[in-house]
Amino acid sequence: MNFNPLDFPACLEFPLWLEETAWAEHIPFAMFLAAAARPRIFVELGSFRGVSYCAFCQAVNFSKTGTQCYAVDTWQGDAHAGLLEESALTKLKAHHDPLYADFSCLVRATFDEALEHFAEASIDLLHIDGFHTYEAVKRDFETWLPKMSKSGIVLFHDTNVRERDFEVWKFWAEVKATRPHLEFLHGHGLGVLAVGEEVPNALKFLFEADSDAISLIRAFFYQLGSRIEAVKTLRVQQNYIESLQTYERVVKNSRAMRIYRIIKEEGFKSLRKKSFGNPNQDR
Ligand SMILES: C[S@@+](CC[C@H](N)C(=O)[O-])C[C@H]1O[C@@H](n2cnc3c(N)ncnc32)[C@H](O)[C@@H]1O
Repeated sequence: MNFNPLDFPACLEFPLWLEETAWAEHIPFAMFLAAAARPRIFVELGSFRGVSYCAFCQAVNFSKTGTQCYAVDTWQGDAHAGLLEESALTKLKAHHDPLYADFSCLVRATFDEALEHFAEASIDLLHIDGFHTYEAVKRDFETWLPKMSKSGIVLFHDTNVRERDFEVWKFWAEVKATRPHLEFLHGHGLGVLAVGEEVPNALKFLFEADSDAISLIRAFFYQLGSRIEAVKTLRVQQNYIESLQTYERVVKNSRAMRIYRIIKEEGFKSLRKKSFGNPNQDR
C-alpha cells in the first residue's frame, strides 16, 4: 500500500472547532483528504454547527491547497439532526469568518437553490450530509453529480446507520456498485466514492486496497478519530454539568425556594411577616 501518513501532517491536527456533532471521528480523514486531493472546489451539503466543514477549512488552510470552500445549509436543522437555534449560525460565523473568509463562504440556502451557483464539472470534492432518507440522499447525489469534475470525489455520511428512517446505507449499496469506493464503518459510517474517470494519485491507494489494507486504513483513521470523539464527549458533558449547576443556582435563589425554606425552618405562620418583593421578578 502506497500511503505514508507523514506526507499529510494535516491529519494529525486537532480541530479548532468542535461542537456537538456525529462527525467528530472522521475529522482526521477529512483533513487527510483535503491535503491529499487538493480540490479546487469543495462543497458541503449540510453543515449544521459546522464541525465537518471547519475541519475541511482548517486542513485547506494548514496544507495551503488553494481550495475554494462552500458550506450549503438552511441552518434550520431537520428531523434527523434536530432543529437548530438561530444563534448556532452566529457562533459558527464568529469562528469561521476571521480564519477562513478569504477562501470560504457559508451559503444560507436549500441545496436546490444553491445548485445554479456552481458550474458544470467544477467541483472536485462534495460532502453529502443533508437529510438522510433514501429519497433525499439520492436526490442530493443525482442533482449535484453533473457539477462534479473529472477527478470528483463524493463523501456520504451515515452509511452505517440502521435506525429510524436513515437510509443512506441503502443508496450507498446501489451507488458504490459501479464505482471505485471505500467505506469507513466507524463514526456512523462514511462512504468515499470516486465519480470521475481520473482518481487523484494520492487517493488511489484507498480504492486499490485489498481487504487487509482496508482493515489497516480503517483502523488508522478510527484510532485518530476516537481521541477527537473522546474530547468532544467530555466537552458536551462539561457543558451539561455547567448548565445543571446554573439551573441549580437559579432554583436555589428563587422566590419559591425561599418560601419553601421559611415554611420548613420557621413554620407556615412566619410567612405572613416576611416580604418577598415584586412577585413578577425572580420566579
Ligand atoms: C446531519 S446535519 C449536518 C452535520 C454536519 N455535517 C456536522 O458536521 O455535524 C444536516 C444538515 O443539513 C441541513 N439540510 C438538510 N436538508 C437540507 C436541504 N435540502 N437544504 C439545505 N439544508 C439542508 C440541515 O439544516 C442540517 O443542518
